[in-house]
Amino acid sequence: IPEHSLDRDCTTLSRHVLQQFQSFSPEAQDLSAIMSRIALAAKLISRRLSRAGLMAGVLGFTGEVNVQGESVKKMDVYANEVFISVFKQSGLVCRLASEEMENPYYIPENCPIGRYSLLYDPIDGSSNVDINLNIGSIFSIRQQQGEDLDGQASDLLQDGRQQIAAGYILYGPATILVYSLGHGVHSFILDPSLGEFILSQENIKIPEHGPVYSTNEGNFWQWEEPFREYTRYVHRHEGYTARYSGALVGDIHRILMQGGVFLYPGTVKKPEGKLRLLYETAPLAFLIDQAGGRASDGTRNLLDIVPDKLHMRTPLIIGSTEDVKLVESFIQDWK
Ligand code: AHG
Ligand code: MN
Ligand code: MN
Ligand code: MN
Repeated sequence: IPEHSLDRDCTTLSRHVLQQFQSFSPEAQDLSAIMSRIALAAKLISRRLSRAGLMAGVLGFTGEVNVQGESVKKMDVYANEVFISVFKQSGLVCRLASEEMENPYYIPENCPIGRYSLLYDPIDGSSNVDINLNIGSIFSIRQQQGEDLDGQASDLLQDGRQQIAAGYILYGPATILVYSLGHGVHSFILDPSLGEFILSQENIKIPEHGPVYSTNEGNFWQWEEPFREYTRYVHRHEGYTARYSGALVGDIHRILMQGGVFLYPGTVKKPEGKLRLLYETAPLAFLIDQAGGRASDGTRNLLDIVPDKLHMRTPLIIGSTEDVKLVESFIQDWK
């Protein structure tokens, strides 16, 4: 194929979503529209990040503490609101739930017609924002399951296999969007001159095993013993390389491409770990599973976990199947 024909035949995100359905069904059109809105949110956040250091009032903390007990950054608030605003008047999404909001946000004009719910982590890797290192956004689409009787969206407390779509945006040297509708994992690169996400890789498969070992080893003495044992195993064997950026999205993107394992274990004081099931671990588990990898909380496939509350946390071991299983075997032996 001559090079110029590639330029003309570029596949945009919304076209790609439609191509994955066999027909122009209402569901195909809804999901295409939802993904276009998510892409718009990504472009708005990406644009703001690229100029953040030149503008007043964009970086730094707000002084508030969120429901997770974390100090909130101005970019967390901005990105959280961007996702809400792109779904206003869409008729698609009635409810949004995010790491940054104690309760679900209902978009009155979309309720009850909007059959979908968006669950998201607006800025993943907040500690990287002020120093211009890679950060991300994570999203998951779920469908309303029955009645939302308590007005708390508790019908969303379902296992990870109920996700209709999931993905992340990585704001790095380029802005990349990776998503799955349950038919493989596909990545897109934002072409700033077009303002469009263009298909870059289809049906991404994670290697069965890989060299990357990604965890915050500063927590070594707070971990349960099997994680320390696994770490000692890594230290004693050739072929591993440590990579940890402070943003889950970046670390997992590397592992998706190169293979390996990311771990955020629980600690003796906080056995549930840090990462949130509905906004972080379940969407990433859905993606990595679609890429042929595995995600676990140490004993269970992460996709089987049913949350007992919106902000539930889980330990996370995710990546290449062989590597995740090896970590699980250390936990098994210890029990
Ligand atoms: P968030 O910025 O959305 O709160 O998530 C940060 C997460 C994740 O991206 C990262 O892997 C991890 O927290 C880093 O935590 P530590 O600083 O404890 O290593
Ligand atoms: Mn946070
Ligand atoms: Mn996060
Ligand atoms: Mn976050």
